[in-house]
Amino acid sequence: MTSSSTLRERFAASLMPNYGVPPVVLTLGRGCEVYDADGRQYLDLIAGIAVSSLGHGHPAMVKAVAHQAATLAHTSNLFVHEREVELAERLVGLLGGDAKVFFANSGTEANEAALKLVKRAAGPGRHYFVAASHGFHGRTSGSLALTGKDSIREPFGPFGMDVRFVPHGDLDALRDAVDESCVAVFTEPTQGEAGVVPAPEGYLAGVREICDATGAAFVLDEIQSGIGRTGAWFAHQSEDVRPDVLTLAKGLGGGLPIGACVGFGDYADAFHKGDHGSTFGGNPVACAAALAVIDTIENEGLLAHTAVMGDLLAEQLDGIDHPLLAGQRGSGLWRALELSGPHAAHVQEQAAVRGFLVNAVAPDAVRIAPPLVITPEQIGVFIEALPTILDAAEAAATKEQQ
Ligand SMILES: Cc1ncc(COP(=O)(O)O)c(C=O)c1O
Repeated sequence: MTSSSTLRERFAASLMPNYGVPPVVLTLGRGCEVYDADGRQYLDLIAGIAVSSLGHGHPAMVKAVAHQAATLAHTSNLFVHEREVELAERLVGLLGGDAKVFFANSGTEANEAALKLVKRAAGPGRHYFVAASHGFHGRTSGSLALTGKDSIREPFGPFGMDVRFVPHGDLDALRDAVDESCVAVFTEPTQGEAGVVPAPEGYLAGVREICDATGAAFVLDEIQSGIGRTGAWFAHQSEDVRPDVLTLAKGLGGGLPIGACVGFGDYADAFHKGDHGSTFGGNPVACAAALAVIDTIENEGLLAHTAVMGDLLAEQLDGIDHPLLAGQRGSGLWRALELSGPHAAHVQEQAAVRGFLVNAVAPDAVRIAPPLVITPEQIGVFIEALPTILDAAEAAATKEQQ
């Protein structure tokens, strides 16, 4: 097998430098374990950024994908196929009805669809959008315009859209920002890319109320939080609030690329024929994978399991007394270690050295989003190793400062 170092060199020579050169080269995954090109084993605590919800190589996923690839791999949107209809019906069922779905291939495309949908539905005189500072909605131009992270948005503007940012979770600021001229409010329930930062309780109900009062559309981005990650099918269900438009991706396909934009009520039928489309969106293989994900979450009781494992992880993290670990936040199997200093990159590196894949999502936050099938034993192994990882990260940070 080609070694990690050779593949990293070839990556650097042949792929654009936008990702840098990722430090680990993965070749094989089994359950929650992955292996690199040099045969080293890792416990996967990031699941391809909250994507591989069933872990790697789950038999239900393998069977569904293999069967669909052998039966009918692609149709385009010129033809109907059964898997897209089944998947749309399943999602609408999980969401309580009165909704319709558009399928895309990724999160950012789901948000692009949402953006066009709310523009199409908006009455005359509505001309601006409101989104949250530090929020993340994707890298294509429309989604990027709504992304509240200056460092990644500003180099690529202007976007030809009036987007106003308010602090995440601040309902007073949102109330001041939204009036009858606002097309839509885009928000995440918990900001994933900002470092798994939850909004205060009652935030989504407050957004709903502000949107109802002004007629602005409420677009909820559950691309990272949806499909079981928090221990519920969708994070908004814990507040019993329904948005006008919901976007999904990541965990929906369990590793195959799929995104979804769901419109509720009037938003279900807001697109006119010809308004939007995607050659690959709702591809039969990706839909078959998503159906396998939903079936397996149901059949294996993974919502309850996620909630229990999430509580266990939180409790065990809370039990660690280490100067670098200031706390933890998040819900279900979607957590961030809060560090007392900006040493997340060192924690990520030292964790990998010891066989754990975690993600330095912010300078002082390490994201943990393992497959939903993680076991108490696997959580225990990580917790046991964590103090040593934190010691090594502190030592590396000190060395770097010298
Ligand atoms: C909340 C949220 N929205 C949108 C996206 C963009 O998804 P994708 O990378 O599939 O385009 C992400 C990706 O991290 C995300 O976390």
